[in-house]
Amino acid sequence: MSETTIDRYAVIGNPISHSKSPSIHQAFAQQTGESITYTAELVEIGKVKDFVETFAQQNGKGLNVTVPFKQDAFELATTLSERAQRAGAVNTLHIQGDVISGDTTDGVGLLNDLCKNHQQIITNKRILVIGAGGAVRGVLEPLLLQSPEQLVIANRTVSKAQQLAEDFKSFGNINACAYDELSGMTFDIIINGTSASLSGELPPLPEKLFHQNACAYDMMYAAKATPFMQWASQQGAAHTYDGLGMLVEQAAESFFIWRKKRPETQSVIEELRKQLTQ
Ligand code: ATR
Repeated sequence: MSETTIDRYAVIGNPISHSKSPSIHQAFAQQTGESITYTAELVEIGKVKDFVETFAQQNGKGLNVTVPFKQDAFELATTLSERAQRAGAVNTLHIQGDVISGDTTDGVGLLNDLCKNHQQIITNKRILVIGAGGAVRGVLEPLLLQSPEQLVIANRTVSKAQQLAEDFKSFGNINACAYDELSGMTFDIIINGTSASLSGELPPLPEKLFHQNACAYDMMYAAKATPFMQWASQQGAAHTYDGLGMLVEQAAESFFIWRKKRPETQSVIEELRKQLTQ
């Protein structure tokens, strides 16, 4: 097959050079025998539409979209999945002729990592989600669809948490509060969806939030335990996980949307973990 007829895929962002998506998707393609290319593309701010048009003309079939273009992708998609509409963001574009379908796979990615890879159960459990930005908005629906006993969103800016609780209340028992209002409550699963870990910071959480045998999940990942994971261990969390598995699982869901094949993820997560800690 010549280069020009091979289906092309890419991740777009700015910056993008450190993206792990090319190596993840190349591993998926190899594993499933799919003949595709997948590259990382740096796109200028304000130029996403132009890039997507040119990419589509050059046999581009799908894109992953990362910071800061998730909103642009949402706007330029000609159709949107229901979950993308509710998340208000798109991380996956599927190009089929003139139709550009937008979807978000972050929520499924978190669920698959938490429940399948780490065997956590959400149903009837008390869940705390920290943060109320775009990353959290994208995971609330799938979490609530698992019917937790209660889902609390805590955020520095409480009004943003309250807005999310309002937007998602039809999906289940969801409440919002400030960090200091968490005192006295306990949870089975605490998920950090703030970007605080990026700057090595930790939201000011009260002590004793972890119920017996509870777990902590940081949607960020790093070579070593994030500040949130370290704090959770000190606070007695039985398990702490970072978001590397979520990254691979959301990629697997994108791959499925494009190629209708489900790649095996465990070996890819293990390989990435090895590279990260080397
Ligand atoms: P993302 O797309 O990663 O969700 P975002 O929409 O900018 O990014 O949201 C970032 C989230 O991290 C917000 O919940 C933010 O809290 P505010 O809404 O109060 O700004 C939270 N956040 C970032 N840095 C933080 C810090 N140092 N301490 C606590 N929360 C922090």
